[in-house]
Amino acid sequence: MLKVKGLRAGYGPVPVLHDIEMEVGQGEAVAVVGANGAGKTALVRTLCGLVRPMAGSILKDGVEISHVPGHRRFEHGIAVVLENRNLFAELSVRDNLRLAEQAGKRRSGGQRFSFDEVCDLFSILRERAHSTVGLLSGGQQQMVAIARALLLQPDLLIMDELTTGLAPRIVKEILAVLNQLRSRGMSIVLVEQSVAIASEMTDRAYVLSVGRVIHEVRTGEWSAMLNDKTLIKAYLHG
Ligand SMILES: Nc1ncnc2c1ncn2[C@@H]1O[C@H](COP(=O)(O)OP(=O)(O)OP(=O)(O)O)[C@@H](O)[C@H]1O
Ligand SMILES: [Mg+2]
Repeated sequence: MLKVKGLRAGYGPVPVLHDIEMEVGQGEAVAVVGANGAGKTALVRTLCGLVRPMAGSILKDGVEISHVPGHRRFEHGIAVVLENRNLFAELSVRDNLRLAEQAGKRRSGGQRFSFDEVCDLFSILRERAHSTVGLLSGGQQQMVAIARALLLQPDLLIMDELTTGLAPRIVKEILAVLNQLRSRGMSIVLVEQSVAIASEMTDRAYVLSVGRVIHEVRTGEWSAMLNDKTLIKAYLHG
């Protein structure tokens, strides 16, 4: 599905990510955890084509995509929910989703979500279809952002700090949808500051610190990781 090798990337001439190696298998949910400034968002932006790598490779289903521009990565089955969501604030919910829907129709394969199906996942989308996105709450906007990503018909969904700053009730609703996506076989990269959420929602994880993968939590190792106070304190500030 996704294979990252020797990836170096950053902003301007300054590298922020060093020698990143990571892999996501078909249908796997993998977390990227790390403290503020560890490079999580830089990694997401590099995987989705908003930051160009200085070295290394990003393979999607065996195809080198590191030079494919961001707006064409959905053609390779990658969709992203960015930290700042990047929605069209002045357009309605329906119009935001329509743009993705049209692009997604050009893709064969993937999970094939329809507008009705994403509305079944988040009922607010149907109720507020004609509302201006900029006037919705943060949680509702996050739902629009997830729905938009799904309508690009990805088989790999990358999400950056999906639940940060949202009310507990909304977090619960979003995580329930994430579980549904997992059970449908969606491959997932979940960037999280909350180790509790990451451990609940994923099979394994990469721990980032100062732009490097300094630890891997392998399948079945989450509980050991949660009990490793030294690691948590040193690299996750908590
Ligand atoms: N636009 C930018 N230009 C230059 N440096 C940047 C830019 N954005 C982020 N950085 C730097 O890159 C490093 C990694 O930042 P990044 O945003 O990837 O961290 P993060 O792990 O996502 O943190 P957070 O948990 O706060 O979201 C930091 O040192 C940050 O100062
Ligand atoms: Mg970030």
